[in-house]
Amino acid sequence: MPDEVAEVLLTEEAIWTRVREIAAAVSRDYAGKNLLLVGILRGAVFFLADLARALSIPVEFDFMAISSYGQGAVSSGVVRILKDLDAPITNRHVLIVEDIVDTGFTLGYLLRMLRARNPASLEVCVLLDKAPRRVEQHTIAYTGFVIPDKFVVGYGLDYQQRHRTLPYVGVVRVSA
Ligand code: PRP
Repeated sequence: MPDEVAEVLLTEEAIWTRVREIAAAVSRDYAGKNLLLVGILRGAVFFLADLARALSIPVEFDFMAISSYGQGAVSSGVVRILKDLDAPITNRHVLIVEDIVDTGFTLGYLLRMLRARNPASLEVCVLLDKAPRRVEQHTIAYTGFVIPDKFVVGYGLDYQQRHRTLPYVGVVRVSA
């Protein structure tokens, strides 16, 4: 384990078990529909890759990259698009795939922006719900794990761009 990581919060096995459970639910709910996964770069890449491959229904995926204005540790909710979707989502069944929801500001922005493009449906799938930090409430159709207010890395999540490739979710050492 890297020095900056104090403990494992979610093991690789726990994540994989939960991803398969979510994939089964998504496969059931979207059977017969033309599902489009929208992954939010960069944190969601591994979650989306594993989820998509665990689905038993046909699926397409696309990506968006967004950035919060300012470098504060706390999300401001003021977001700009760095990379938009490649294709229109009008009349598509869209499932946003996020690694983590914290304040909920980013998700609120995404939902408002994508809803304005008139998808057939728009839902959210998030691996980690840091519920104690929520400021904006949003309906989340699929949640992997509700986690405490700790700085987590791994399985796509970073600390200053480090540790994204860890196969587990770990807690950053407070002194790091
Ligand atoms: C994370 C996460 C969400 C956002 C959640 O992205 O992927 O997009 O923060 O925070 P909020 O609920 O407080 O708005 P981050 O800015 O860390 O970018 P990354 O995915 O590229 O690591």
